[in-house]
Amino acid sequence: MAKKQDDDKLAAALKAVEEMRPGIKVGLGTGSTVSYFIEALGKEGLDVPVVCSSRDSEQKATKAGLKIMELNKAISDSNRPMLDVYVDGADEIDPLYNMIKGGGGALTREKIVAAASLEFICIVDGSKIVKQLGKFPLPIEVLEFAEVYVTNELTELGGQVVKRKGFKTDEGNIILDVTGLDFSDPLQLETELNNIPGVVENGIFSVRNADKVIVGKNGKAEYI
Ligand code: A5P
Repeated sequence: MAKKQDDDKLAAALKAVEEMRPGIKVGLGTGSTVSYFIEALGKEGLDVPVVCSSRDSEQKATKAGLKIMELNKAISDSNRPMLDVYVDGADEIDPLYNMIKGGGGALTREKIVAAASLEFICIVDGSKIVKQLGKFPLPIEVLEFAEVYVTNELTELGGQVVKRKGFKTDEGNIILDVTGLDFSDPLQLETELNNIPGVVENGIFSVRNADKVIVGKNGKAEYI
């Protein structure tokens, strides 16, 4: 990856660390941008239990010395049934903070942890900002049993479907990467895709979009 893009991801991640406070419960996304966040959060030494959206993030959080909690346990207190904040990257984000996520294949758990959080802080480099979603192939997690049926349904909707080669999600499912769908109404498309039997989850984050977006640009971070 280009060094400049790396610098921008790091800058956005460091800015998000400034928002962390001792005692809050933090959901961790997956991917290269949030990896910078995990490392920096570990160095900060705050007492912030984390819930991880993937095995990959869990390994990184363990290495960074963070205290890991399971989601079920973290939200089982009826007086405090949500995580305080979820921090994650995105593959694309639009002006309404709708996103495409799942480039790393962790979209299902990411969406669950994001939904279980009071606030979603999205950290990205400038290349992720788009006017309309849809150029990045949409990752859809599918039961392998339903691969052909779901592929046919997606093709009916105008999609070009590519099965992600040699990849299984943490839940043991396959990912179909899809281009050519109509993104003029992301919320409607998100719901429609999830109504196809065999689809576990799709990578449109519109039902639970971001609350704050931090963008790294020229090695500096700003809120947009
Ligand atoms: C992981 O499944 C994704 O949703 C990531 O959040 C997204 O792909 C962004 O990844 P990077 O931070 O590596 O660009």
